[in-house]
Amino acid sequence: MKDLDGHVIIVTGGASGIGGAVSSVLAERGAKIIAVDINEEAGKEIENSFPGQVLFMKGDVSKENTAKEAVNLAVSKFDKLTGVVNNAHASRQKPLLEQTPEDWELSFGTGFNATLYFMKAAYPELKKTKGAIVNYGSGAALDGQPNQASYAAAKEAIRGLSRVAANEWAHDGIRVNVICPLAHTGGVDSWQKEHPKQYEQVVREIPLQRFGDPKKDIAPIVAFLLKEDSQYMTGQTVMADGGSKKLR
Ligand SMILES: NC(=O)c1ccc[n+]([C@@H]2O[C@H](COP(=O)([O-])OP(=O)(O)OC[C@H]3O[C@@H](n4cnc5c(N)ncnc54)[C@H](O)[C@@H]3O)[C@@H](O)[C@H]2O)c1
Repeated sequence: MKDLDGHVIIVTGGASGIGGAVSSVLAERGAKIIAVDINEEAGKEIENSFPGQVLFMKGDVSKENTAKEAVNLAVSKFDKLTGVVNNAHASRQKPLLEQTPEDWELSFGTGFNATLYFMKAAYPELKKTKGAIVNYGSGAALDGQPNQASYAAAKEAIRGLSRVAANEWAHDGIRVNVICPLAHTGGVDSWQKEHPKQYEQVVREIPLQRFGDPKKDIAPIVAFLLKEDSQYMTGQTVMADGGSKKLR
């Protein structure tokens, strides 16, 4: 018996990066996964690694229909939906005054709107299963890190939305929590190349002195937030960041 046997979970951006690690770890623990991503190559790869257990769905999360299709796919293939991990988020880093309407649209479209679309589409099914939602915030947003205006604003909007949903949907047995990860992925790799000084500074300030490993450090916390072990937690922001920030 694995600890996520019987779970059916949608992971957005679930083909690579932290989302890919989350899809893999949840599948290893017994869950059925719908991995929604625009990256077809990585999507096919993860689907082939877990035949019959991880289904890749090619889709752009900034389109509302993608969320509806993903929920329909989960129910038609696996009969139910028990969890949603709103992991995908694309953005461009540049000074606030240089951010274009397209930059704002990209970050709010793939971050905030996508999270809202998947929460709304999943609600009726999660109500049936007393399911859980894991949304994503960011330490960079909590800090107001330079060059992150559109990203930070969308991340904090996600946290606000999550707290409201936690209160409104608690009566339905649906829990909504937020994770703020810090992990070395492709996204962080490009950020490191563009902003090496900020990267060095971030590592120096991590009490555990390293970026997290997506599989070993981040995915297990997502798993915890999806299962009964966290049944008395909702509306919380959980820092998975090596101790960088201590929320009160
Ligand atoms: N990596 C970190 O240290 C860190 C820190 C704070 C927060 N986060 C958050 O964690 C999450 C994952 O981060 P990551 O570093 O793995 O990102 P990443 O850029 O490495 O991976 C994101 C995944 O989302 C997919 N994606 C992008 N746009 C999409 C779209 N429109 N539709 C569907 N899929 C799309 C990509 O193909 C990719 O598979 C994000 O919400 C990010 O903001 C990460």
